Amino acid sequence: MADTIYDALRESHEIQRSLLRKLLRSKPGTRERIDLFTQTRRELEAHEAAEERFLYAPMLMDDMGLSSTRHALHEHHEIDELVEDLQGLDPAGEAWIDKAKELSHEVHHHLREEEKKFFQVSGKVLSQTQKVQLAKKYRNDYARMHRVLAAE
Ligand SMILES: [Fe+2]
Ligand SMILES: [Fe+2]
Repeated sequence: MADTIYDALRESHEIQRSLLRKLLRSKPGTRERIDLFTQTRRELEAHEAAEERFLYAPMLMDDMGLSSTRHALHEHHEIDELVEDLQGLDPAGEAWIDKAKELSHEVHHHLREEEKKFFQVSGKVLSQTQKVQLAKKYRNDYARMHRVLAAE
């Protein structure tokens, strides 16, 4: 079976799950916690951008994909806001871990909903050829976004 957009997205989702697990286990105020947060922030941002462009934009062109796309983009925005909140907190403080748990909860909920629901909806909207082509486009843009974010 050819590599499809869903294989590429699930790969990124696993990276996010693993980073969040490590982030929640990190010790307050350590270099490790700060570095893991940077990695998580970039990972979420690179994934969201490439996913919006190469999963949700094509889905949005079909009436069947409208409501799932709106829902998913709203959750991306909520995740962005939690990341921003976390960035403003002291990584040694009590409030930090509460906010990190909230972020982890929100991301896990979102990934599950995509994997169980939105991917199935988009599976009906996209052709097999599109699913393969979008995988390539997603991977290229995701890698490019990582380069852009690392240079900031
Ligand atoms: Fe998403
Ligand atoms: Fe995703």
